[in-house]
Amino acid sequence: MQRDLTTEYVAEINRLKLEKNTVILSHYYQTGDIQDIADFIGDSLALSQKAAETNADIILFAGVRFMAETAKILAPQKKVLLPDMNAGCSLADSCRSEEFIKFIKDNPGRTVITYVNTNVEIKALSDICCTSSNAVQIIESLPVNEKIIFAPDRNLGNYILNKTGRDMKIWNGTCHVHEEFSLEAIIDLKKSNPDAKIIVHPECELPVRIIADFIGSTSALLNFTAKDDGKCYIVATEPGIIHQMKKENPHKTYIPAPPRDSTCGCSECNFMKLITMEKIYNCLLNETPEILIDTATILKAQKPIIRMLDISKKAGL
Ligand code: 13P
Ligand code: SF4
Repeated sequence: MQRDLTTEYVAEINRLKLEKNTVILSHYYQTGDIQDIADFIGDSLALSQKAAETNADIILFAGVRFMAETAKILAPQKKVLLPDMNAGCSLADSCRSEEFIKFIKDNPGRTVITYVNTNVEIKALSDICCTSSNAVQIIESLPVNEKIIFAPDRNLGNYILNKTGRDMKIWNGTCHVHEEFSLEAIIDLKKSNPDAKIIVHPECELPVRIIADFIGSTSALLNFTAKDDGKCYIVATEPGIIHQMKKENPHKTYIPAPPRDSTCGCSECNFMKLITMEKIYNCLLNETPEILIDTATILKAQKPIIRMLDISKKAGL
C-alpha cells in the first residue's frame, strides 16, 4: 500500500510544533494544505501583529523572506525559521539600498514610507512602514503638508496618492504577480459572468483597478466576499486567498483573474509556492534555515515597523 506522505508530514509537524513550542504563521498566498496546518493565517499586517505578540519560542514562517525578517525584527529573541531561503519577493528586490539611498538624497525633506514588502536594509532607511491594509491610514496620520517618499510598489503608491491627494514621490517598483493580470481577459470573464464582482488588490495596475467593484488588501478582499451579498467574484490577486474564501463561503463562486500569458501560471507567486509541506517538516526538525539579522540593523528596522503597529492600533486595525 502506498504511504500517504502528506498525512505523515502533517502528523509529524503537529508533534514537533508542540514539542518545540513553535507557532506556524502562514500568508494567504500559501497552498491550501499549508494554510490548514498553520496556527494563524493572515495578511502581511496581521502576521506581523501576531509575530510581535506570540509566546512561542520558535516562529516558523510559511511565507516569504521579508515577512520572516519582519517577524525577526519584532521578536529578535525568538528563533525565526523560513523553510526555503529562496522564497524572496520580486517587489522587495526591485528596491536595492544603494539606489534607494540616492533616491532619498535626490528628494530631501520627505518622510520615507515603505511597504513591508522590502528587504531589511530598506526598512532600516525608513521612517514608517505600511502594508496594503493600513497604507491609507498611515499616510493620513501625518500632517497634510508633510512630503512623502513611498516605496517600492508604484501601483499601491498611486492608489494611495489618489485616495489621499498627498505630495508623494513614488519608487518605480512592481510585483510580478499583480502586474500580470490581463484587463482584456478580466473584461471577457465579466461578459460571460455578468453577475460576478471584480475584486482587486491595490498592487494591480490602474486599468485593472479602474474596473474593480472593490479594492483591498488580501484580508479586505476576504472580508468583502464573506460579508457581501454577491454570489460570484473575479479575484485579481494571488489565488491562494481563494482557499479561505471557499472555507468561509463555500456556496459562492470564485474565479481567479487570468494573467496576460495564459500558459505561464504566473498569477501564482512562485516565491510563496517554494514553501512545501516537506520543507516545513525538515525546517522544524532541523531548526534551519534560520533568519539571522545583526542587532544594529534590527534596531534601525524596528522603529518604522513599531511606528506602523502603533498607528494601526490607534486606527483600530
Ligand atoms: P497583503 O498581505 O498586505 O495583502 O499583501 C499582499 C502581498 O503581496 C504579500 O506579498
Ligand atoms: Fe512579492 Fe508579489 Fe509574491 Fe507578494 S505576491 S511576495 S509582492 S512577488
